[in-house]
Order: sequence, then C-alpha cells, then structure tokens
Amino acid sequence: MSDLRFDGRVVVVTGAGAGLGRTYALLFASRGAKVVVNDLGGGRDGDGKSSKAADNVVNEIKTRGGTAVADYNSVVEGEKIIKTAIDNFGRVDVLINNAGILRDKSFMKITDHDWDLIQAVHLKGSFKTTQAAFPVFKKQNYGRIIMTASTSGLYGNFGQANYSAAKMGLVGLANTVAIEGERYNIHCNIIVPTAASRLTQDIMPPDLFEALKPDLIAPVVAYLCHESCLENGAIIESGGGWAGKCQILRANGAILRKNLTEDVSIENVQKLWEQIIDTKNGKCLGSGREVVIALVEVLEKLRNGDIKSIQNEEDGTDE
Ligand code: NAI
Repeated sequence: MSDLRFDGRVVVVTGAGAGLGRTYALLFASRGAKVVVNDLGGGRDGDGKSSKAADNVVNEIKTRGGTAVADYNSVVEGEKIIKTAIDNFGRVDVLINNAGILRDKSFMKITDHDWDLIQAVHLKGSFKTTQAAFPVFKKQNYGRIIMTASTSGLYGNFGQANYSAAKMGLVGLANTVAIEGERYNIHCNIIVPTAASRLTQDIMPPDLFEALKPDLIAPVVAYLCHESCLENGAIIESGGGWAGKCQILRANGAILRKNLTEDVSIENVQKLWEQIIDTKNGKCLGSGREVVIALVEVLEKLRNGDIKSIQNEEDGTDE
C-alpha cells in the first residue's frame, strides 16, 4: 500500500500549539503538506495569549525537515489565519477547526461571559475561519474541512452545558457546509475525539489518560482530509486507536390521528408513546429531503385511511 501524501497541499490547523492540533500538524507536515500552525497560546479557559505554543510546534516540524509557519491570531478572527496561509504559501487546501477552551460550570453557575467565550471560540471561530477559506476552496474546486465536536455535545456531560451547546452547534454547521460545498468538491466532516490533553487531564483516571494518546486520532483526521476520501458530512468518533461513524437514529414512530381532518389529541400521544420512542426498527435519515418524503408518506396513509398504529392500539393488536 503506497503512503497517502499531501505534497503541494497547504493545511491550516487551528489550536495546533498543543494536544490534538499539534499531532495533526506534525502528521500532515511529515506527509509533505505545508502547515499553518495557528495557536493563540492562552490558558485552558481562554484567558491570555502567547506566541510560544505555535512557535514550538513550527520548530518541531522544521527540525524534522517539514515546512510550517506560525500564526498567533484567535480563531474569532479566522480571516487573518487564512491570510497567513495565502501570504506564505499562496493557497489553502485543508482547514482543521480544532482550537478549543473550557469554562466548565454546572448549568446555574454559567455566567454570560462563560457562555459567550465558549460560543465565540468554538462556534464563531469555526464559522469565521471556514467562511474565509470557503471562497478559496470554491475557486480551486477543492477543499477539505474538519469541525471538532465532542461526546459532551452528542451525549451531554455534567458541568459542560456551554461547551455541549457549542459542540452540537458545530455539528449543525458542518451538516450544512457539507451540503453547500459538495458541488465544489469541498467536503466537511466532524471529528469527535477522546484524547489525553490539558483539557482532559483532570477528568480522566491516569491510566486511561496515558492510553488515549492524541496521535492515535491524527491519522483518522488526515484520511478524512485526503483527496482520496469521499466522505462528506460524517460524524466520526475516535479515540484509543478506534474510529466509528455516528448517526442520529429516528424511530419508526406512530401516526397520531386516523385521517386528515382529525386533530391530534394529547391522549393519543400518551396511548402511542411506546411506539413513538421505540427505536428498534429505527432508521438513520440522510437528508432533510428524506424527512419530507417520509412525511408525504404519512399524509398519503392518512388520506387513504391506512392507519395501523391507532387502530391497533384500539383493537389491542400488535401489528
Ligand atoms: P488543548 O488545550 O491541548 O489544545 C487546544 C489548543 O487550542 C490550545 O493550544 C489553545 O491555546 C488553542 N486555542 C484556544 N483558544 C484559541 C483561539 N481562540 N484561537 C486559536 N487557538 C486557540 O486541547 P485538545 O484536547 O487538544 O482539544 C482540541 C479540540 O478537541 C478542542 O476543540 C476540544 O474541544 C476538542 N475535544 C477534545 C477532547 C479530548 O478528549 N481531548 C474531547 C472532545 C473534544
């Protein structure tokens, strides 16, 4: 099997001065890419800044014979980061939105500042940087974008309401960027990592922390950004040397009335609740269009009086 290379490609990695971003930057550079190592260099909570984090990684890449340039802007000024890529390398092919901070507090203790800063860095930062790169990708009919979500967004996590909301917002952003980019060969996928870093050092037991090296996720992200990868709009969870796709499962559900003229009653909702929440024969829908098709089928059944769910409930039959 020949190596997957990124020669001639310019890769921007935000928050690449540490943790996961650093491993992405090192891997892309080792496979021939020119890398923009962006990092604000602040604290874990988003306060402060420093050029040291980005400089260290650029030096690491150069020492290993690679090509990289540092960028110290905050992702909320994403256009400046993309300008660094264009000014230094004349193009940009891959954008990894990875920069992140935490301001963990239980829900009632979250201040406006905690909320705004988390949304700004994760959600607005990814929006700004992606929006600046998009016209470049469109013009060259090529682009690969990664958004970084979190299991805290997908499944929730105590003390992280602000972070969970931002991370799930990124899933929505990626879903639509993937649709709008498709015709220009611009793919946008979501990585949901679990890895040892300063964001997780105090929440993971030491042996787990040791085992979940961020380097184990970098190849998954790199493959998603390779020209040979056709995946678009996928949520890929990864950690500890494992990766798998996540999708939202929709229950088969229940039709809540007998015909088109009847209203839906609360009592019918209660009666049919077990069917509404039964995901056993559920499906993962691939687009909003599939949602509309499914609704048209429901309306068709209502028109034809072909409603099994309510009738069966009333007859006491299963099917
Ligand atoms: P990390 O703290 O080691 O790295 C994040 C980097 O982003 C830091 O170097 C920081 O200086 C930089 N950064 C923060 N705000 C910035 C800004 N405004 N502009 C530019 N750079 C900024 O953390 P880690 O774990 O490597 O996190 C990377 C991404 O992965 C984050 O988006 C995080 O939310 C996400 N993530 C990480 C998980 C994990 O298990 N480590 C779990 C789920 C998501």
